[in-house]
Amino acid sequence: MAMAELSTPKTTSPFLNSSSRLRLSSKLHLSNHFRHLLPPLHTTTPNSKISCSVSQNSQAPVAVQENGLVKTKKECYGVFCLTYDLKAEEETRSWKKLINIAVSGAAGMISNHLLFKLASGEVFGPDQPIALKLLGSERSIQALEGVAMELEDSLFPLLREVDIGTDPNEVFQDVEWAILIGAKPRGPGMERADLLDINGQIFAEQGKALNKVASPNVKVLVVGNPCNTNALICLKNAPNIPAKNFHALTRLDENRAKCQLALKAGVFYDKVSNMTIWGNHSTTQVPDFLNARINGLPVKEVITDHKWLEEGFTESVQKRGGLLIQKWGRSSAASTAVSIVDAIKSLVTPTPEGDWFSTGVYTDGNPYGIEEGLVFSMPCRSKGDGDYELVKDVEIDDYLRKRIAKSEAELLAEKRCVAHLTGEGIAYCDLGPVDTMLPGEV
Ligand code: LMR
Repeated sequence: MAMAELSTPKTTSPFLNSSSRLRLSSKLHLSNHFRHLLPPLHTTTPNSKISCSVSQNSQAPVAVQENGLVKTKKECYGVFCLTYDLKAEEETRSWKKLINIAVSGAAGMISNHLLFKLASGEVFGPDQPIALKLLGSERSIQALEGVAMELEDSLFPLLREVDIGTDPNEVFQDVEWAILIGAKPRGPGMERADLLDINGQIFAEQGKALNKVASPNVKVLVVGNPCNTNALICLKNAPNIPAKNFHALTRLDENRAKCQLALKAGVFYDKVSNMTIWGNHSTTQVPDFLNARINGLPVKEVITDHKWLEEGFTESVQKRGGLLIQKWGRSSAASTAVSIVDAIKSLVTPTPEGDWFSTGVYTDGNPYGIEEGLVFSMPCRSKGDGDYELVKDVEIDDYLRKRIAKSEAELLAEKRCVAHLTGEGIAYCDLGPVDTMLPGEV
């Protein structure tokens, strides 16, 4: 473990904001970059000691002592190794209990947008302190330290801990939320079956780790593609966590669909509601214009060009990710991060009366006749407690039924390809030469 030692008088000092109490000692271990950030120290406290890990090559966990209690902080980063007592200050006394949030692929572009939103309080609220547990690969560890440094420098009052690491068995310890972004993109010439296998291995390992060390009611949002099947693999490897707690991100598709409808109708997008994305986050997904509403009216009453709805609109949503890659030269990152925020907020705040949101969830017990044992995007509502229920009273006509069946068939084929990773026997991959694509692969 690379540790930098700094001798100081035993002291207590407010840091970052007046509510953050930290205790420093004559044996203070801090990263070099951190030393110059320390404010002047004052108020001495006897027998306090803090040690901070400063490098991912660190071997030993960090021992932190506060009020005689020694805590072990594995791989904590810089300023976030310091201890604090939220109950000691007027300002923070009313805050909720700290929650642990894991983010994989934490050094990537999506995370670079997301982490700062999480830390600012935009997602979980202004009285919800958080600890970020950042998972990266060996290759990205320097970048991960860079992310942690930027988080330090942002002085977010609600961000109380940041740990970085490469082992999900350590990083996922006690997490209440896991946002799984890290996955390999499909490279040139790579078969979809290969992609499913490579990424599936990652999500099988992470599912096992969550099962072993996460909070038993952890909520898991899978973003890494192909996210529906990755979420399925993850949940199958985590039998102690309710299957209902796993989500595949289709909120980006919902947001894209709302935007397209708003454009066509000439209204601002907050006028579009009840937008369901059915199925897979792929080009078979079904943006449901039958049940969606504009200004409270059925979309088909507001937009009378039904041919456009069936063809232009549907295809524009299905292929939006691909178009974006053509323009940007890379996958969507900022809008994906925004949609992750939206997806989580939809679970931690009550759904407005009469509305719903889309998320990819386990199909067992669904009222739409979709095959069980899949992760499929469907309309959901939440009371704001982190949980959700499926919306029952949606209309499914022949058009929708046929297209939903196509996405269902695709997910069943993906499932057969990963049977070796879900504990369901020998994999048999019959995706075929015209296998379906991620939105970004078109
Ligand atoms: C998106 O929808 O923008 C991404 O899932 C595209 C991709 O394939 O990375």
